[in-house]
Amino acid sequence: MWSASPDRYSRGESPARTGERASNRERVGSSGIGRNGPLVGLPVKTAGATDAAAGSSGGPAPAIMIAIGGRKTVPLADRAPAPGRLREAASTMTPKSGPATVPESSHSPAPYDGPTREEVLATRRQYLTPGLLTYYREPLLIVEGHMQYLWDDAGKQYLDGFAGIVTVSVGHCHPKIVEKVRDQVGKLQHATTIYLHPTAGEFARKLAEHMPADSGLTVSYFTNSGSEANEIAVLSSREFTGNSEVISLRNGYHGGTQGAMGLTAVGTWKFKGNPTVDVKHATPGYCYRCPFGLTYPSCDLKCARDVRDLIRHETSGEVACFIGETIQGVGGVVTPPPGYFATIYEIVREAGGLCVADEVQTGFGRTGSAFWGFENWGVTPDLVTMAKGIGNGIPLGACVTRPEVARMMANRVHFNTFGGNPVSMTQGLATLEVIDAEGIQANAREVGGHLKDRLSDLQARHPLIGEVRGMGLMLGVELVRDRTSKEPAASETAEILELCKGRGLLLGKGGLAGNVLRIKPPMCLTRADADFLVDCLDEALEIVENRMHGKTKN
Ligand SMILES: Cc1ncc(COP(=O)(O)O)c(C=O)c1O
Repeated sequence: MWSASPDRYSRGESPARTGERASNRERVGSSGIGRNGPLVGLPVKTAGATDAAAGSSGGPAPAIMIAIGGRKTVPLADRAPAPGRLREAASTMTPKSGPATVPESSHSPAPYDGPTREEVLATRRQYLTPGLLTYYREPLLIVEGHMQYLWDDAGKQYLDGFAGIVTVSVGHCHPKIVEKVRDQVGKLQHATTIYLHPTAGEFARKLAEHMPADSGLTVSYFTNSGSEANEIAVLSSREFTGNSEVISLRNGYHGGTQGAMGLTAVGTWKFKGNPTVDVKHATPGYCYRCPFGLTYPSCDLKCARDVRDLIRHETSGEVACFIGETIQGVGGVVTPPPGYFATIYEIVREAGGLCVADEVQTGFGRTGSAFWGFENWGVTPDLVTMAKGIGNGIPLGACVTRPEVARMMANRVHFNTFGGNPVSMTQGLATLEVIDAEGIQANAREVGGHLKDRLSDLQARHPLIGEVRGMGLMLGVELVRDRTSKEPAASETAEILELCKGRGLLLGKGGLAGNVLRIKPPMCLTRADADFLVDCLDEALEIVENRMHGKTKN
């Protein structure tokens, strides 16, 4: 989306804010490391078998899968190397002269000798909440991970295109993180914040340094999850403003606790017995399915301007805060038009409210063009909530705000047993260090840009693809049965997930109708991985499209 030149990035500037914004770290000066530096199992096909009948787990993809797409083979030496120190699988480019195969990993998984997949599933069904959902007709038993790859109980390797739901930011079991956490676990696992520990403050300082300069966003409240971080943001805003009403966005997801579920406006994630209290839901910037039937830019951002009417009609006129994901993740990677957030922030501030950016999925460089998603939109929130990628897989979240807002939490006694836990803090700090040292944001931009270009090429050949959207390594592919009616292709999306799984690729899905492929891998993804991902998707799309049109290819 942005066309910033590489030297802009090397100076650490967001393209939306060039010349305006430097990080707090640049302002306060510290480590000197540049922040932009370096539901269902259609299995692998066997000859003569239908996809549904073939087994889906174990073993490499059989060679009889048909190569589709005919992409020109590029000699290895001609392919751009992965930036920074990201080398995994860089030498294993898959020429598209046969079926897509997962790039080789340098890692050898240990043989798995635990309970069988069937036993694990049976135990889960008996002893864990039935509310848990699994992907795939035959749920996957994952037993080992290394960087962007996962292995199942049969030793089959997968490219993780969904990062444990956008959580493994820099790679599964990243060796530098593992080493530091191992050391911490051996020394002290827990004490609580009633005692001092050096890592929490150090991590909070580093987070503050990653905020835009002069934003004043310097104080962290650590939690264990994104839901809790959002609860803290809303509570702090209500205390600060003395107002109660909150504006969030339709199609937004903010968590599963009572308050966070109230902020959420994807109906499938709401329970009828859990009332939404003092939250009004505004219109998302979902141009592909504009709720007003308009087109950007002639719409003049009616979706954003409508917030003024919403506040006037449905609230007392004074609000506590607005909260919005800077790209809607669960809602299907819905990426708003330029000006959307700036317009809403202005209206909300006129009504006395604070602005909260939910960066649970978009933060830590995932959008490539900026460290925080909000920087892409030229706005500065009053509070920033984060989780998932902050900890590369450990339960960790945070709400970062200005000191005067943070002070509200001292109005009463408030406590979170595991907030600031030394192990979580160690993992969070180590993750942030890896993001800086290994050029993770730059990689998200470069490999993500390549991936998006190739997905857009697929769109030209596959009518199922209605839209390719997103930024960096936060990409979505919305599938529709018909490009005019835009009827959501929900069962087709599920089938594509199954076909990809059979080929060794794990993807996510989202959107209210479940018809958006969510591509949000660990940000150490290489171009070879990206090529594999697209080739795999190409094959799956062709199979599904052929079926839709009654062709029997495969
Ligand atoms: C944007 C966003 N906010 C908040 C949450 C809630 O985070 P958690 O599941 O850690 O409570 C999620 C979880 O998917 C999310 O995607």
